Amino acid sequence: MGIEEITGRVARDLEHLKQFTATPGDGCTRLPFTKEARDAVNFLTETMKEAGLTVHEDAAGNVIGVLEGEDTQAPCVMMGSHYDSVINGGDFDGIAGVVCGIEVARQLKENGIKPKRNFVVVGFCDEEGMRFGTGYFGSGAMLGNRDVEYCKHYKDTDGISIYDAMKGYGLDPEKIQDAKWPEGSIGQFLEAHIEQGPVLDAENIELGLVDCIVGIQRYMVTVHGRADHAGTTPMDMRLDAVDAATKVISKIADWAREKADGTVATTGYINTVPGGMNIVAEKVEFTVDIRSSKNENINDIANRIRAALDREVKAMGGSYEIDTKLVITPVALSEEMLQIMEDDCKERGYSYKRMPSGAGHDALEIGQVIPTVMLFVPSKEGRSHCPVEFTKYSDFAKATVIMTGLAEKLLTR
Ligand code: GLV
Ligand code: MN
Ligand code: MN
Repeated sequence: MGIEEITGRVARDLEHLKQFTATPGDGCTRLPFTKEARDAVNFLTETMKEAGLTVHEDAAGNVIGVLEGEDTQAPCVMMGSHYDSVINGGDFDGIAGVVCGIEVARQLKENGIKPKRNFVVVGFCDEEGMRFGTGYFGSGAMLGNRDVEYCKHYKDTDGISIYDAMKGYGLDPEKIQDAKWPEGSIGQFLEAHIEQGPVLDAENIELGLVDCIVGIQRYMVTVHGRADHAGTTPMDMRLDAVDAATKVISKIADWAREKADGTVATTGYINTVPGGMNIVAEKVEFTVDIRSSKNENINDIANRIRAALDREVKAMGGSYEIDTKLVITPVALSEEMLQIMEDDCKERGYSYKRMPSGAGHDALEIGQVIPTVMLFVPSKEGRSHCPVEFTKYSDFAKATVIMTGLAEKLLTR
């Protein structure tokens, strides 16, 4: 199959998927357990079937297509990414990796490969954690890391829990642990993804061989003060939740900068209650997302945040609580699989570079326990998590050729 035909198939699938957004004309908004998610899953199901895969949806909302090998009980080779998006995100983050997985299955068939074990393509549910502030829901469930209590605990900003959202979507959250794959049943995991940063585009390099993914910790902090009149309450007689919270928030970026090694920390969400111009805020909620390839840096910043909250909230006279949303350590990806892809890139004359990933991925969750590799394609001007996100379809096609080569080697040895 020529690269033009592959490009055409990837383009056709991704162009079709673009329509499944809650914000037409303003980027992709495909939150988990919504109509848009269901429409995308239906399309992926059909596309996987057309590619010759046997398809089902699991208890966590992952869509799974299987190309059977000789020994269906042997550890499979799995490839996938997520079908959800952030709010007003792009048309490629996640979903392109699912489409690439289906394309790899097509190429394996066209190349006449007789796989010794199953090749499994997965569209993961709720990688982003956008709606519930969490992350890697579907991939975590596949590893047995999600349970009913987890589903009941995490809620979106409308107060709807994962548990209730799943029910409304037609899934039974009581069965979430059915999504777990038996230990040893996944041999390797492969993920193709857009880079979401500027390096490959700026350096005019076709493919990124990802050798590590940062660790991430995410918290929702709630600071409690007292609502009072903004005009009549003297400055030393108020319990101002905004005053205390912002004294902490204002330090977080500096603590990350101090590390000077790529560590990042972000407060992307702040909510004040009741949120009136002339009312001292009785409550502030804010998020913290800390990432680094060094886990000790993440722990250090999280500890500094706790210490600063203790200090500032005590000085204010209120209280606070921290809800831990995600704690995941950095992973090194499989050197063996990187080497196979690197050799193939050299042979085909594709330019490549080894690089780390600052974005989180299903590969981060799965890579904690299973040999995993990722392949990046360039993001125009590094833009992502916004509507202008763009990658050339021909770049995805090259990624599928390299990943087909890797899958072929793994499936036939
Ligand atoms: C997901 O895209 C993340 O890195 O937050
Ligand atoms: Mn993604
Ligand atoms: Mn994303």
